[in-house]
This record gives sequence, C-alpha cells and structure tokens, in this order.
Amino acid sequence: MKVVKFDTLNENARRLIDEAIKVRIHAYAPYSNFKVGAAATGLPESMYHIASGCNVENAMYEVGHAEQAAILQLAMMSHCDRPLRVAMLAIALTAVTDDQHALPCGFCRQWLREFGDDNMIIYGAKLNAEGKVWQVEVTTLGELLPFSFGPNNLSK
Ligand code: THU
Ligand code: ZN
Repeated sequence: MKVVKFDTLNENARRLIDEAIKVRIHAYAPYSNFKVGAAATGLPESMYHIASGCNVENAMYEVGHAEQAAILQLAMMSHCDRPLRVAMLAIALTAVTDDQHALPCGFCRQWLREFGDDNMIIYGAKLNAEGKVWQVEVTTLGELLPFSFGPNNLSK
C-alpha cells in the first residue's frame, strides 16, 4: 500500500475519487453517522462509465455498503453481452489519523473479487472533518484480499 497526495495522482484516479466524494453526500447513515462514497470503473476504462454509490442503512441495522452500491450500478450500466469487470475503485470516508484507513471492508472486498482480479487498483481517499481529501491510500485487491476465493474456484 502506498500513501500519496491527491494532487500527485493521474486524471483518471482524481476523477474517480472526485466521484466517490460527490456521491458520499447522499449517504443515508442515521444509525452509524458514518458516510461512505465509492466510485468504480470497468475494463477497458472507456467501456463503461464511472458508477458510484453510497451506504444506505435501515432501522433493522442492515446496511448497503457504498462499494457494493457502486458495483451494482456498474453492473446495470454495463453491456449485457460482456462480462462485468471492475478495474479501479475509489472509496471516500472520514479518516483523520495516519493509523485509520479508508479502504473497503471485508464484505466489500469479496464483492470486488467477484468482478475483478488481484490487479484491481483501489484508491482510499481519507477525508478530514471538513470533508476534504488530505491523503490517498493506493493499493490493489490482491493486497487487500490475498489467497482469495472467487468465481474461478467454482469452475472445473
Ligand atoms: N461502510 C461502507 O459503506 N463501506 C465499507 O467498506 C465500510 C463501511 C458503511 C456501512 C455502514 O453504513 C457504515 O459505513 C459504518 O459501518
Ligand atoms: Zn463494505
């Protein structure tokens, strides 16, 4: 995992992170008060648009996660005759200290694994209390979910 400044990232990465930050405003998180935004794009990048999603909670304390919502939206935007592949995902959440991460939870890592491989690039935008990015974590799905179980494990 690398830790970088937002300004040093390329345009595609900055766009993806900007989308994750934008959609985070729509998070419905009255129980946790923890808003998360996510944006995802497919392979090759031009094939799909950027899809985004936020967390949505309910009174049963069941939760739809932001990354999951972004993946579901990307699936709905993608061509039905081509398999959905996620190449890059950005997540944005409040993380104000060096030891807090802005990376997908275990549940979302498995969702990402369904549509991407170890090379999927994941950007974690750490927001300060004002909602501004102060640091970005850059990693891959392979690093976040080693020795993973995915669709290929089920095929002969
Ligand atoms: N959350 C996400 O949306 N994605 C993650 O990967 C981490 C957690 C949401 C779920 C819940 O609404 C809130 O953050 C607190 O866990
Ligand atoms: Zn999650």
